[in-house]
Amino acid sequence: MDVREAIETRRTIFAFTDVPVPHTLLETILSAGIWAPNHHLTEPWTFVIVGQETRRTLAERYAELRLQKKAALDATEEKRASLRAVAYDKFMAIPAIVAVACLQEGDEQRQREDYAAACCAMQNIQLVAWAEGVGVQWSTGPVTLEPATHELLGLDLSRQQIIGFLYIGYPAEVPKARRKPLDEVLKRMP
Ligand SMILES: Cc1cc2nc3c(=O)[nH]c(=O)nc-3n(C[C@H](O)[C@H](O)[C@H](O)COP(=O)(O)O)c2cc1C
Repeated sequence: MDVREAIETRRTIFAFTDVPVPHTLLETILSAGIWAPNHHLTEPWTFVIVGQETRRTLAERYAELRLQKKAALDATEEKRASLRAVAYDKFMAIPAIVAVACLQEGDEQRQREDYAAACCAMQNIQLVAWAEGVGVQWSTGPVTLEPATHELLGLDLSRQQIIGFLYIGYPAEVPKARRKPLDEVLKRMP
């Protein structure tokens, strides 16, 4: 698959098969991240592969946060217990989870540039994964934002921020693409 095809056919994947992603392939995919363009070569990224024990703690919290959604707040205790169990199982069933943190220190310009570079790393990872037949969902859901999550993953929140979790696995379903045509977002100045 060439770069153009990977860019255009890659989709965010929400449903994975239960086939595990081999560890060496996961590392191959993540290694695409470190080649992202990066002003001043600050290499602001840290990738944390979330193991089973850590994942159980995150899954509890993920499920709790799900219960704070409006529909769940209004539900009966029995329904809430069932929603909690479904959310916990959903998180645990994701074949691989990688947290990506970005250094956020120095002046505003440096922080912007480092965040931009880390986002480029995310897209490198997504594209190389896709070319390998592996799907990714970049998630910035509530659990990624919590100080407790940073602490659990050994990240120093005073210097590093999680910019997303990557949920990684073989796609069970590929959503349809939706984009405006270029003409709608292109301006030509004289
Ligand atoms: C910074 C960023 C954060 C995202 N966070 C989420 C998220 O929390 N949940 C989610 O389902 N998708 C998330 N996505 C994926 C987008 O929803 C997805 O890219 C968009 O729907 C377009 O679909 P496509 O990737 O298949 O083209 C995020 C994407 C980016 C770039």
